[in-house]
Amino acid sequence: MDNFIIRGGKQLNGEIKISGSKNAVLPILAATLLTGERCEITNVPELRDIRSTFELLNYLGKNCFFGYGDFVAEERGPLKLHAPYDLVRKMRASMLVAGPLLARFKKTVFSLPGGCSIGLRPIDIHLQAFKKLGAEISREKGNVVLTAKKLKAARVKFRFPSVGATENLMMCAALIEGRTVLENCAREPEIADLAAVLKKMGARIKGEGTATIEVAGTARLKGFKHSVMADRIETGTFMLACAAAGGRVRLSGVIPKTVDALTRHLRLAGVEVSVFKDAIGINSSGSRPRPVSIITRPYPGFPTDLQAPWMAFMSRARGLCSVNERIFENRFMHAAELGRLGADISVAGKKARIQGVETLLGAPVMASDLRAGAALVIAALVAGGKTLVRRIYHIDRGYEKFEDKLRRLGADIERVKN
Ligand code: EPZ
Repeated sequence: MDNFIIRGGKQLNGEIKISGSKNAVLPILAATLLTGERCEITNVPELRDIRSTFELLNYLGKNCFFGYGDFVAEERGPLKLHAPYDLVRKMRASMLVAGPLLARFKKTVFSLPGGCSIGLRPIDIHLQAFKKLGAEISREKGNVVLTAKKLKAARVKFRFPSVGATENLMMCAALIEGRTVLENCAREPEIADLAAVLKKMGARIKGEGTATIEVAGTARLKGFKHSVMADRIETGTFMLACAAAGGRVRLSGVIPKTVDALTRHLRLAGVEVSVFKDAIGINSSGSRPRPVSIITRPYPGFPTDLQAPWMAFMSRARGLCSVNERIFENRFMHAAELGRLGADISVAGKKARIQGVETLLGAPVMASDLRAGAALVIAALVAGGKTLVRRIYHIDRGYEKFEDKLRRLGADIERVKN
């Protein structure tokens, strides 16, 4: 397993281009299962989760490959309908193949995704919604079996605006003739990117980005060409890295409005953020920020995926602030690891209290999930001395060429084989 060695104290300066969005690509890759025609996707980041999805799509019978930098998915024969445990357990987003396979073949079998370090990650919202469209659900040996004699357009109301459930049901409804109305949907920008793809495939969709999405499906969907949106969580992660370390950085190829909540909070903390058409500039002295509390919420609220990086940034705040995690039940593992670097953080249930400290000091720490790993790197950039970050395979799931980009901005970071 690889580790990072980071020597703190360097400011970040210069410009980097943000990669395509992991959380937009994953449902779009699943959408290729809705058609037997050729699909081409560009701006696909080189990430472990993307490779895991290729593996799953190829296992199911797709022929996925990179042609001249573009991702291509073709169909070489009948598809399998079972997403096996050893592929699903690696990545919860594998659940996203259920909607397309159910819609196209009226049957799918997939292993329960199992929990992960940030929570149980149940799938009840997905299953309840599939039932509303006419699916029957049964369980056998740790698998969920979804079958349907006929799927019918219906009105579905989610009990919580689940991102994955919204995406799964949009894809399923795209192949059901008639008007399906999804209510209390997630409003994340990745959902609008998926809707753009489904429209190119021949579905008629309106309301994406709002709480109510209408899908007028069709019996057959076409192949598509699509360039994936920029990764808003990578954008936010680098904004926070520069805010914490100090310096002047320009992030290009971004969609500024998708990080509005973070921009507002950074400005409250005393960081200068400049917004351009498709770029964001951060100008930070690297001094201790003003303490600013956050509550994570569904989009457009403060994103849960930036909660850990924000906590790293607030570790040196000039006072007390809190972090209230409202989306996942166990997303504070990074707090103890930040404590090993000298941060003063106490956790009680879904709330963490951060008493900012003057300095952090390098130490060996361990990543528990991809965003916690990014938070530890941010803290290590400002900690005195050397920090060893272990289990960075978590980081490789969601950040393309992370250390290369940081080094290009002036960070002293290297990847070492364990
Ligand atoms: C997506 O996960 C993202 N992943 C997550 O990013 C992100 O943290 C999350 O949305 C919230 O924004 C991808 O897009 C691939 P949810 P998803 O369904 O769809 C509960 C990252 O770091 N829930 O909106 O799985 C669930 O347990 C990852 O890139 C149910 O109870 O998130 C959680 O507490 C981490 N039943 C909450 O809802 C369900 O059926 C939000 O989950 C589904 C979800």
